[in-house]
This record gives sequence, C-alpha cells and structure tokens, in this order.
Amino acid sequence: MSEIEFIEEKWFNAVKVNKLRTGKKKMLTLGKKLVLLINSEGNYFATEALCRHMRWPLAWGAKVSDDCIRCPLHQTTHKIDDGSLVEWSPFPLFPAYGKLVGKFSKQKDLRTYPTRVLGDMIQVYIA
Ligand code: FES
Repeated sequence: MSEIEFIEEKWFNAVKVNKLRTGKKKMLTLGKKLVLLINSEGNYFATEALCRHMRWPLAWGAKVSDDCIRCPLHQTTHKIDDGSLVEWSPFPLFPAYGKLVGKFSKQKDLRTYPTRVLGDMIQVYIA
C-alpha cells in the first residue's frame, strides 16, 4: 500500500454539504472518535464532541461565535480552528462555583481535526 493510499483512508465522510447549513453543528462518530462538525459562515471545522471540562456534549447547546465555541454548562471556551483554550469554566461568577468546579480538572485544549469538501461531501481527517 502506498503512503497516499494510507492517507486517503483517514478521511471520513461526515455529512453532505447541503445537510449542514451555516451556523449549524452536528455530532457524529467517525472512525472511533466522537466528532463535532461545525459550519461557521461557510467554513467547516471539526473538534472533539465533548467539552474538555466535564465532557458535556457540545452539540447540546454550545454557542459558536467569534471563531470560538462556548460550552453551555460552565462556559469553557475554545477556538474552533485550533482548539486552543480561551477561558476555563468561568460560570457562574457568583457564587464562584464555576471557578471552583474548574479546579477539579486540568485545563486542556480541545482536539481539532482537518476538514475538506470532496464533491458534495464534507470529510474529516481522523489520525
Ligand atoms: S462541562 Fe463544559 S464548561 Fe463545564
């Protein structure tokens, strides 16, 4: 098997382009990974599907804005392009429960995956 064939096997069909409109997101299993696919203003991003803080499914209520995704539970926020952490568990402020709960787990970036469009299909690269 050539290296090119090996690489091609890592691209997984996610959804058809016309099934993920702008501003929408979808949780799906690709390979053995639970992935969140996001259409942000016509650009496709794929991240791990569960919040790094307490594993809440980001498809359930997370908001995408300013190139970030914000978990609805304690509002941990990551960049959607590289998954870098912006803010860790700041909510609620009063009482300072969010910060307290945030201390129970180590701060982590959100894993991201490359995407591409091939034909009418959005694909995600899972290494
Ligand atoms: S579970 Fe997502 S911020 Fe706490």
